[in-house]
Order: sequence, then structure tokens, then C-alpha cells
Amino acid sequence: MDKPLVDPFQRAIRYLRLSVTDRCDFRCVYCMSENMTFLPKKELLTLEELDRLCSAFIRLGVEKLRITGGEPLVRRDILTFFRAMSRHLESGALKELTLTTNGSQLERFAGDLAAAGVRRVNVSLDTLDEAKFARITRWGRLPQVLRGLDAAQKAGLRVKLNAVALKGFNEDELLPMTRFCAERGMDLTWIEVMPMGDIGNEDRLGQYWSLDDLRTQLARHYTLQDLPDDTGGPARYLRLAETGQRIGLITPLSHNFCESCNRVRITCTGEIYTCLGQEGHSDLRGPLRGSDADGPLEDAIRAAIALKPRGHDFDYSRQAVDGRVTRHMSHTGG
Ligand code: GTP
Ligand code: 5AD
Ligand code: SF4
Repeated sequence: MDKPLVDPFQRAIRYLRLSVTDRCDFRCVYCMSENMTFLPKKELLTLEELDRLCSAFIRLGVEKLRITGGEPLVRRDILTFFRAMSRHLESGALKELTLTTNGSQLERFAGDLAAAGVRRVNVSLDTLDEAKFARITRWGRLPQVLRGLDAAQKAGLRVKLNAVALKGFNEDELLPMTRFCAERGMDLTWIEVMPMGDIGNEDRLGQYWSLDDLRTQLARHYTLQDLPDDTGGPARYLRLAETGQRIGLITPLSHNFCESCNRVRITCTGEIYTCLGQEGHSDLRGPLRGSDADGPLEDAIRAAIALKPRGHDFDYSRQAVDGRVTRHMSHTGG
């Protein structure tokens, strides 16, 4: 391997999150506005360009590749890309190839993803109530996602549900969702809502449900055991002694985890964002298209990582939303 990627704070970059489309078949209220304008196709990196880009990162030491969107499974021909990436699993350079999805297309794709070497998927699901699901996703239908979960498990994929913790929305589902995951042998991870994107009249402060509080509520019903597990992502895990299941907590607001950040993000147009919580980004599409040799691309990657900030500035503690970023979560894929 060439010299590995290390940022100015001595954090080794081993995890790439790649968005393959800005489109989605849902319109989750905290993520997108209802009338989104999507990018024209020519702006997007082609599948071949995505391949070259990921292969460069893998050469530079990335071991974990997570495909995101928008909704990654609505990108045309995306299986071709997964199949191409599986060669890096076979060579041993890549330890994990995975994706974060809304689950809507899993019924169709689960078998082929497993065949391409995907071992687990993270499915974003904030509620198990059909009416609430329709409300929060605007366009989504819960039964379709539930069929997707079944298909994923049948295909042998491990499933983790990701739920954004939203005050007044899914607080009452803490126990039902916990039980649902216990019955099905799925992990469940809760995420604190981050102030990203202009989402109309939604009130972030009012939405914010601290996971400290969630933990306290969970502890009323279960014995919590902290686990040392590390998936290379930001979640910290605990086990519920009574059921044996794993619960993950992603706490950008209540317990900042930037110190151990090992990841960068690439948008579907080839911008690299070295922090989810900052506006700074660099262009990789230019160097990618500008030369058939990978030297200029690798130089651009190193230059971008040399600018990786220490962390985000999200903060709700002064009864106001600080550190907001204007782009939508769908731009960088979470
Ligand atoms: P695992 O491999 O299962 O550990 O996944 P992961 O936690 O890396 O990825 P996942 O897509 O499940 O991440 C869930 C959510 O956590 C993302 O959509 C973001 O909302 C949030 N998140 C992930 N990485 C970061 C990060 O670096 N900073 C912040 N602030 N939030 C993050
Ligand atoms: N804060 C926290 N998580 C968010 N997601 C989308 N928007 C936000 C936000 N503002 C989550 C989605 C999905 C993942 C890609 O990011 O629910 O799980
Ligand atoms: Fe890394 Fe930025 Fe996320 Fe912090 S907010 S963990 S620095 S991406």
C-alpha cells in the first residue's frame, strides 16, 4: 500500500462513505424538502469513475466502504458497481462493503447484494407505525420496507435499523422498536438529530431527543451492559441483558465522537467532504476526469484530507441551534 491517509489530527482514514445518487424515492421531512431539484445526470460520476475513485481510496488504505445516497438502490445499474467492488473484498484490501438504505428496494436487491459480498445492511427506519411512517417519509410505505427487511434476512444479510430519535415522534416507540428488533435478531441504532439542511418549518430544537434520556428510559426496562464493540462507525453499543440484543447510540450532540473520526464522504458528483458537520469540501471530479493516470487524483485526495477539520460545531446547548450546515443530509448521504 502507498503511504496511508492521515489527517492533521493524526486520525487514520480507513472508512469511505460514497453517495451514488442524490435521488431518493422518499422525502423524509428532516432530510429533504418536498420539492427537491435533483442534479442532471451528466453531473454524476459514472460507475466507472466511482470505481476508479474507490479503488484509489482502497489503495490508500481505506478498508470499509459504505454506499449511500439519496437512496443508493435507485441508482441505475448499481449492482454492476457492487459486483465490481467485490474484487477488493476478494483481494483482502477491503474488509467491508456495505450500504445504508431506506429499505424500499431491498426486496428486489437483497439476494444480489449478498452475492456481491455484502454481509450486512443498515436500514433507516424511524417508526413501525404505518401512518407515522407515511407522514415522516412523505412518499414511503411501511409494508414495502418490512418486506425488504424480510428479504434481506432471507438472503443472509445482517440487518441494523437506524432510527433518528425525534422528540414527540418516536419516543413512544422505544420499547416497541426494541422488541421488534429482538424478535427478528436485528441490531437497532438510535441517532441524534443534527441541524442539517433547510427543511422548512421543522424545529430542530423541538425535535431533539438526547440519547442520554433515551438510555435512562431504556434502563427502566432492561439491564444495560456497555460493550467494547467497534464497527469502525460512530455508534457505541450496549447489550440488553434480558434479550441479549445490541443497541447502538450515535450521539453527535450529547457526546461528541469526532476525536476518533476515521471517515470521509464523497458526493455523487465527486466532491469530498471531510466532515459531515462542516461546509468545507474539495473537488475530486476534476482530477478524476482530467487525467487517465491516478497521480493527480491521489494528490487531490491527500490535499483534501490535509484540510479535514477537527470536528463539527453542532450545538443545541444554548437553547438555540448552533453550527448548522445548510446542505441536506441527502447531499452527503449521512
Ligand atoms: P456501522 O458500520 O453499522 O457502524 O455504520 P455507521 O454508523 O458508520 O453508518 P450508518 O450509515 O449506520 O450511520 C448512521 C448515521 O450516523 C449517519 O447517517 C449519520 O446520521 C450518523 N453519522 C455517521 N457517521 C457520522 C459522523 O462521522 N459524524 C456525525 N456527526 N454523524 C455521523
Ligand atoms: N440528523 C440525523 N440523522 C439524519 N438522517 C437524515 N437526516 C438526519 C439528521 N438531520 C439519517 C437518516 C438515515 C441516515 C442516512 O441519516 O435517517 O438513517
Ligand atoms: Fe468526523 Fe465530522 Fe462526524 Fe465529527 S462530525 S465524527 S469530524 S465527520
